[in-house]
Amino acid sequence: MAVLRIGILTSGGDCSGLNAAMRGAVKACYDRFGEKNTQIIGIKNGYYGLINGTAKEMKPSDFSGILTLGGTMLGTKRQSFKMLTSVGEDGVDKIKMMKNTYKDLKLDCLITLGGNGTHKTANLLSSEGLNIIGLPKTIDNDIYGTDVTFGFHTALETATGVIDRLHTTAASHSRVILAEIMGNKTGWLTLYSGIAGGADVIIIPECPYDIEKVIEAVEDRAAAGKKFSIIAVAEGAYDKDEAKLKRKDRSKLREEQGIKTATERIAYQIEASTGIESRVCVPGHMLRGGTPSAYDRYLSTAIGARAAKLIESAAFGYSVAVKNEIITENKLPDIAGISKPVPEDSQAVKTAKQIGISFGA
Ligand code: F6P
Repeated sequence: MAVLRIGILTSGGDCSGLNAAMRGAVKACYDRFGEKNTQIIGIKNGYYGLINGTAKEMKPSDFSGILTLGGTMLGTKRQSFKMLTSVGEDGVDKIKMMKNTYKDLKLDCLITLGGNGTHKTANLLSSEGLNIIGLPKTIDNDIYGTDVTFGFHTALETATGVIDRLHTTAASHSRVILAEIMGNKTGWLTLYSGIAGGADVIIIPECPYDIEKVIEAVEDRAAAGKKFSIIAVAEGAYDKDEAKLKRKDRSKLREEQGIKTATERIAYQIEASTGIESRVCVPGHMLRGGTPSAYDRYLSTAIGARAAKLIESAAFGYSVAVKNEIITENKLPDIAGISKPVPEDSQAVKTAKQIGISFGA
């Protein structure tokens, strides 16, 4: 059997479980094809490394002891699809360079771990004839065609821990505290951590808020003798008036108002209207760090291991997915670049409403 040369890269924002997924993929390849017949080539810093040919041959020992390690041992970089696909002032055709690197490294296939942007580029490279397998990661859980992505569960634990801790300060000081949770386009993390952390109001981009309704929810609690409120707000939330604007006009308006996120504005408006002290807490990138949760270690391993099966069947141009707990895959063109917003009728939204959580709408 000829030695299989398998490239691997991590692209986009990091999250917990990337190392575990690489380990899962590589261990499963060693198991199926034998260590002697498998050469793993680690490409550094995502597609940036593929463009520039920054890669190294990995040893089996490189994949030991990394199951519990956060981040990505290969490094990562954000490279927008637009930037990758346009020939800039430097005259560099990045797609061509990535294809050349693939060829120069004599790869039989390339495993790309990433979110929506990564999958878009993976699909393009696949349509250009490269043998690509995508693995779905993101704390945002917003990749279409998979019930869950690795990294989400760990971030959920962290975000819930943040909301838990905010409760004592909110209660002690009789304040409103707003936790701004990552999620630029979708609100999965905010919704789940909001429910798990016992938030009173949850504000997500899928459901543009009405500030009057948010204030009403806080006032109703105060009237019922509850002196504090916790509000979980997705980083990408916007109100019903902003919902009428295009994304770039929304940003322009925020710039004019001197605010970056809706969270700051909501805090100000609540305090101005109710007189209740309001504070904002932004855990930010802390949500992407730390050792993967047990569930993410399992999920990353299972998703990674599926890549070996696909390689064995020479089934390229796929992204691994989870559907009803079953590990399966989608064709890249069917899912690439398509986001997965929280459906209005999803179980989580229903559950939140059933226990009286307000969506501020
Ligand atoms: O895509 C994951 C994500 O965590 C988003 O929720 C967030 O908007 C974004 O990354 C921020 O990433 P960075 O600061 O790395 O550009």
